[in-house]
Amino acid sequence: MHLDQLVQPLFVVERASDAGPIEAMPGIARFDLDGAVGEARELFDLGIKSVLLFGIPAEKDERASGGFAADGIVQRTISALKSAVPEMLVMADLCCCEYTNHGHCGIVDGRGEIDNDATVELLCRIAKTYAHAGADVVAPSDMMDGRVAAIRTALDAAGGKEVAIMAYSAKYASAFYGPFREAVGSAPQFGDRRSYQMDPPNAREALREIALDVAQGADIVMVKPGLPYLDVLHAARRRFDVPLAVYNVSGEYAMVKAAAANGWLDGERAADEILTSFVRAGADVVITYFAKEYAQRYG
Ligand code: PBG
Repeated sequence: MHLDQLVQPLFVVERASDAGPIEAMPGIARFDLDGAVGEARELFDLGIKSVLLFGIPAEKDERASGGFAADGIVQRTISALKSAVPEMLVMADLCCCEYTNHGHCGIVDGRGEIDNDATVELLCRIAKTYAHAGADVVAPSDMMDGRVAAIRTALDAAGGKEVAIMAYSAKYASAFYGPFREAVGSAPQFGDRRSYQMDPPNAREALREIALDVAQGADIVMVKPGLPYLDVLHAARRRFDVPLAVYNVSGEYAMVKAAAANGWLDGERAADEILTSFVRAGADVVITYFAKEYAQRYG
């Protein structure tokens, strides 16, 4: 495990009063814009050279308007980070669930179903604003079909040829996202995400999804969550010769922290062992809430 493989997720709030610690993720906080810039500077000095941004808008609505506002919280954070810490690789999570009042990752149609193609159009619109703000990487996490090709075309046509796409390709409908949804307030208000996220027992579909994203122009593909899907990660490593990321998600972090707080396991050793397992299984890029503390231990 090298420090330059680690990516630290950063939560940025538009409304200062939403900043502060996240109860189910000890050690992780929601930052306001200045706080996020300060944190990024600290991370960079510790040797963590990439961050993945998530925005928490002041207002949510049906159409995720906060997501594509030119002066939205993520857009403003991207430009602030690129001027304050220019060498930091800035990745921005590209999804609607932080911006919709119903908490779904896409546009909901009149029947209460997610409208795949309308959502893809919206994602392209958001991606262009991220590119204009100076993002290095956009990371679609919505799981709509066909979005990687559409985003690539939209970016290329809008002066974003240099912006890379890290696709959440094999993203399972998982219980391990619980703390994240508390952190950004995105728990679905009705139904669940099983119509667009993947079915946990299905390993082969992950390989099909990754192949589709590679064919559509993804620069980095991802398996998510990490620990319960190490077999999928390893199978992806054997099959594909492209940069491969794994997302060690909020619930995986929370369970280690909770057990360590109770004195039930050695949290530092557990975290080291988990991060090592991702690299052993074949990940090139590891997105993890442990990134900062790992760098503090070994940087
Ligand atoms: C948005 C998104 C989610 C995560 C990353 N991007 C949540 C979800 O799909 O519900 C989860 C990250 C984590 O749990 O740490 N679609």
